[in-house]
Amino acid sequence: MKVALEGKRALVTGAAQGIGEAIAHALAANGARVAYADINGELAQQTAAKVEGAMAVTMDITKKDSVDRGVGAVVEELGGIDILVNNAGVNTAKHRVNIDKFPLEEWQRIVDVDLTGTYLATQAVAKAMIAHGAGGRIVNIASSLGIVPVRLQCAFIAAKGGLVHLTKGTAIELAPHNILVNCVAPGSTLTAGTKGLYYGENASERERAERLLSHVPLGRPGTCEETAHAVLFFCAPESGYITGQILAVDGGWTAGGFFRDF
Ligand SMILES: NC(=O)c1ccc[n+]([C@@H]2O[C@H](COP(=O)([O-])OP(=O)(O)OC[C@H]3O[C@@H](n4cnc5c(N)ncnc54)[C@H](O)[C@@H]3O)[C@@H](O)[C@H]2O)c1
Repeated sequence: MKVALEGKRALVTGAAQGIGEAIAHALAANGARVAYADINGELAQQTAAKVEGAMAVTMDITKKDSVDRGVGAVVEELGGIDILVNNAGVNTAKHRVNIDKFPLEEWQRIVDVDLTGTYLATQAVAKAMIAHGAGGRIVNIASSLGIVPVRLQCAFIAAKGGLVHLTKGTAIELAPHNILVNCVAPGSTLTAGTKGLYYGENASERERAERLLSHVPLGRPGTCEETAHAVLFFCAPESGYITGQILAVDGGWTAGGFFRDF
């Protein structure tokens, strides 16, 4: 997808790798100057170094001081922020258990990053956008599991479901400033971190992957670039009348059809 983002300044959280990296690269490829923000500052540096005119910023989105400092540095370096993509997120592979056994520390870790982090980054960037008076675009990266919950992931589904509602509420609040807030909800997406989940190396992993993908109507995981395209759509100048919307990029998973032989 080609969109005209020349002269725009973008901040992407969790941009050091995975979906965030693809989003940041896509914004840059379409003309934006991009700040690659990540808690892993060293990796963010390496990733941003691949792109001319990009900058890297070390930012822990769960800490207000760190977010305010990071956003301040980006505003100073780029002269403002027109686009914020709240992408950084975590889940748990270790604690796939029912809520009665789900550890409080794990709940807090996930909700802190996936929900509170987006609140903190949005707050800091919205202040800068409002002060600048030129509007802006905010895109939150939730998950298909924020639309349709599953078992054994109570913290993730609650945080991502919260993001879906936060998107709509923030869109209403920031509309008078012409700041448009939308949400992309990826489904199963192939990254270095999730590769084993979809293309496992041993027989039991492969069996599990097959089962997982059998619930996806398109029968395959999505790519990071496919999610990045949806973000570009929300950032395009032509999308100026779209706010408070949720776009699933999930191969049809949230459309239903989970019971193949029903
Ligand atoms: N990959 C998938 O299948 C999938 C599916 C649905 C939703 N998502 C969502 O997409 C987003 C990106 O996922 P991904 O698979 O690329 O993840 P990833 O683990 O590959 O990358 C996430 C990045 O976020 C950074 N990060 C973690 N905590 C942070 C913090 N406190 N402050 C700043 N940065 C932090 C990490 O260092 C990492 O670089 C997440 O919000 C995730 O929940 C992913």
